[in-house]
Amino acid sequence: MVSIALVGSTGLVGQTMLQLLDEEAVPFDSLTLFSSARSAGKEITLKGNSYIVEELTEDKVRASQFDYVLMSAGGDISQKFAPLFEETGAIVIDNSSAWRMDPAIDLIVPEVNKPSLKRRIIANPNCSTIQSVVPLKPLAEKYGLTRVAYTTYQSVSGSGWKGIEDLDRGEKGEAPQNYNKPIYHNVIPQIDVFMEDGYTKEEQKMIHETQKILNQPDLAVTATCVRVPVPHAHAVAVNFTLESNPSVEEVRELLGSFPNITVQDDPSEEIYPTPLEAAHKKGVYVGRIRRDPSLPNSYHLWSVSDNILKGAAWNAVQILTQLIEGKDVN
Ligand SMILES: NC(=O)c1ccc[n+]([C@@H]2O[C@H](COP(=O)([O-])OP(=O)(O)OC[C@H]3O[C@@H](n4cnc5c(N)ncnc54)[C@H](OP(=O)(O)O)[C@@H]3O)[C@@H](O)[C@H]2O)c1
Repeated sequence: MVSIALVGSTGLVGQTMLQLLDEEAVPFDSLTLFSSARSAGKEITLKGNSYIVEELTEDKVRASQFDYVLMSAGGDISQKFAPLFEETGAIVIDNSSAWRMDPAIDLIVPEVNKPSLKRRIIANPNCSTIQSVVPLKPLAEKYGLTRVAYTTYQSVSGSGWKGIEDLDRGEKGEAPQNYNKPIYHNVIPQIDVFMEDGYTKEEQKMIHETQKILNQPDLAVTATCVRVPVPHAHAVAVNFTLESNPSVEEVRELLGSFPNITVQDDPSEEIYPTPLEAAHKKGVYVGRIRRDPSLPNSYHLWSVSDNILKGAAWNAVQILTQLIEGKDVN
């Protein structure tokens, strides 16, 4: 008997996790859906069964007996409730940033690293980080990775329903309510709050999460994160330096043979991935692989992936499935 709870079941990520639990034939026997009081009482149908969304409360969590809890209700909720679920013996897979940098917590991308389960909380990384470390992993392993510079082009669905609503508002000529500047007909070089060093929190997440996932705490990483008026799928321009000096063709071949990467890279035919084409698909799409002549052993690549799927819900469901099946994560 496998029992699963989903916290944030009415959110963009939560709804997508539900869809994946259905499509991916994840083997579970019972499912409990939580949200805030706002959505409690809503009916959701899955695999022909009807579920009523419940309000998440401390008492319910303390009395619960779930095997696995998928959480996607924001950092504050995860901070408070993940350890309570953990105390009941459940394994929590958390989509927020609350636990990612805790040294005792696994930060997992199934193609890249494996959970140690020192704690029964597993963190799903930041969406832009996931689609970046998937191509960087085989390069780091084969050629040695010494430096990474990211520039992101992040879709509004990365902010949940609020982001999509702000893009719609802009299209109708209305003022934004979520972003501090209009996103329609604009790009905003701020994702999350500014930190003392002038970086945003999103940029710091990409830097520190990359170092943790690749197990290279001293890796030189920098990032500029930008919100763009695209509904679904993020793009990341990744500039990187290797210890050795493979040809562009060798890099293409290596990436093309790695799980869940599709290389779409043929300048002669103007082939490269875009968010519109990668949206609603599970994999990571890579193109524009070329040398950076300004630095030795350096290259560019362009990674595009659906932030709600590989960037959140699918990554979490991959972790869940592998735990249920008792498989090694790779
Ligand atoms: N969107 C992305 O691309 C993305 C990618 C990676 C990670 N994430 C992370 O995933 C989480 C959810 O993001 P989202 O995009 O799905 O946001 P969202 O669309 O705004 O959904 C938020 C969900 O959290 C629930 N919630 C809010 N307050 C709650 C409370 N007090 N108790 C229980 N549930 C509560 C909401 O329920 P109600 O319906 O009751 O309000 C809703 O189900 C966030 O931590 C986000 O950082 C998002």
